[in-house]
Amino acid sequence: MAKKATVNFVCQECGYDSPQWLGKCPECGSWNSMKEFTIRNNVSRLATGSAVLEIAKPQKLQEIASQETSRIQTKYQELNNVLGGGIVKGSAILIAGDPGVGKSTLLLQLALSLSQGLESAQKSAYKVLYISGEESVEQVKMRADRVAVTIFGAKTENNNLYLVSLTDADAIVEQIADMKPDLVIIDSIQTVESQNVSGLSGSVAQVRYSALQFIRVAKQYAIPIVIVGHVTKEGMVAGPMVLSHMVDTVLFLEGEKFAKTRILRSLKNRFGPVDEVGIFLMEENGMQEISSPDQLFLGPLANSEQVTPGSVLVSTLEGSRAFLVEIQALVVTTRLPMPRRVVSGVDGRRVELLLAVLQKHCHLPLDTMDVFVNVAGGMKLTDPGIDLGICLAVYSSLKNIALEKTVGIAEVGLLGELRVVSGLDKRVKESEKLGFKNIVTAKKYKTLREVLTRVSKSEYLNPKSEPNTNDKN
Ligand code: TYD
Ligand code: MG
Repeated sequence: MAKKATVNFVCQECGYDSPQWLGKCPECGSWNSMKEFTIRNNVSRLATGSAVLEIAKPQKLQEIASQETSRIQTKYQELNNVLGGGIVKGSAILIAGDPGVGKSTLLLQLALSLSQGLESAQKSAYKVLYISGEESVEQVKMRADRVAVTIFGAKTENNNLYLVSLTDADAIVEQIADMKPDLVIIDSIQTVESQNVSGLSGSVAQVRYSALQFIRVAKQYAIPIVIVGHVTKEGMVAGPMVLSHMVDTVLFLEGEKFAKTRILRSLKNRFGPVDEVGIFLMEENGMQEISSPDQLFLGPLANSEQVTPGSVLVSTLEGSRAFLVEIQALVVTTRLPMPRRVVSGVDGRRVELLLAVLQKHCHLPLDTMDVFVNVAGGMKLTDPGIDLGICLAVYSSLKNIALEKTVGIAEVGLLGELRVVSGLDKRVKESEKLGFKNIVTAKKYKTLREVLTRVSKSEYLNPKSEPNTNDKN
């Protein structure tokens, strides 16, 4: 019996679908975002999936092969860690990030190294299919030659990496089913489209349909599939948002345009821990992994003898690792009725809250000051354990007191109380390892006020620094 074409309305913001048009999306509340799309059931045999995909039958639990044993270990230990121990066969991984952050470069390096068979003792080389919808195969080849020098030390013959420039989702599925490679990389989901769905490439309907087809074929042949998704500055565009519900693992590659540091985070992982991070550097010839990023997030002055007011270190916990990061603050008298708060690398509202706590409980005249807060090294911090560090940096700049090699590790509450944060021992150990001796924690001090009083009584005072004479407070 031939099925009728299905008409659906899909929210362009969040991907909610409904059989009828609605003015307001019940899922995300956005107005006028429902767009019609049609799946014409008879256009392609792949549209229903029946020709390629057999119907799965229930299996006994014991008969199902355990997936833990079949992980592909990549050359990059940082990537393995973020994935929870390697790439699980048949898993769908989304790598999201701003355009130009280095997703294609990282994946090409992964493809090159896997197809050379450097990583695994059991298998000589993996067959990798790299589908590029953004660049021509010649462009990818040019980049491959460049990064191969970094990975292997020279240009090498590589017979196991297959490149194709394709944007037709159904053709891609057919290619995968024909070739059955060990790993598929699709760069990027925003460029693929299918005749079976209306709408331009990158629209929710297209992204959803294409991803669904890829994931189904990946699951059926147990081929791991890596999908690239761009994110725009306006927030998560339709693509990655819809996708993150469909895939097993969501990785986010972040980094500033003009800094080299790239941080790979797992936001969702069905096969491992989340919030794990991997650190890379974007170099001239590709991405390099950094397994001990000791000095990476410290500004050039953090380790020097001459200590500058406004600089304090925090020890932040990312996944299972602690990193020492420098927080810089600059506090100056404002000329504006609404003082400025310019913040990068941490949540602006969190900083506002901390400034309010400092003003109320420590009597600092911050309502007449412009405050600028910055995280060195391009790291974005969400850990509440950095609160004390931010407060200390602000205080240090306001009073013009240089805090010598000081690390603040505590969450600050609304009443100005300090709270012990998770993984304290690990954070303290990391600080000591790097030679930072003044470690302020909630175990030693109960309130923010107590800490600041000790600081002003020269407990952590650098004798060379002079108090700010302009400051009346
Ligand atoms: P790319 O991997 O194309 O980013 P994405 O796929 O996430 O959009 O990276 C593009 C940027 O990286 C570009 O600005 C140039 C820079 N780059 C390097 O610095 N070194 C390199 O070896 C390569 C290949 C790119
Ligand atoms: Mg790219």
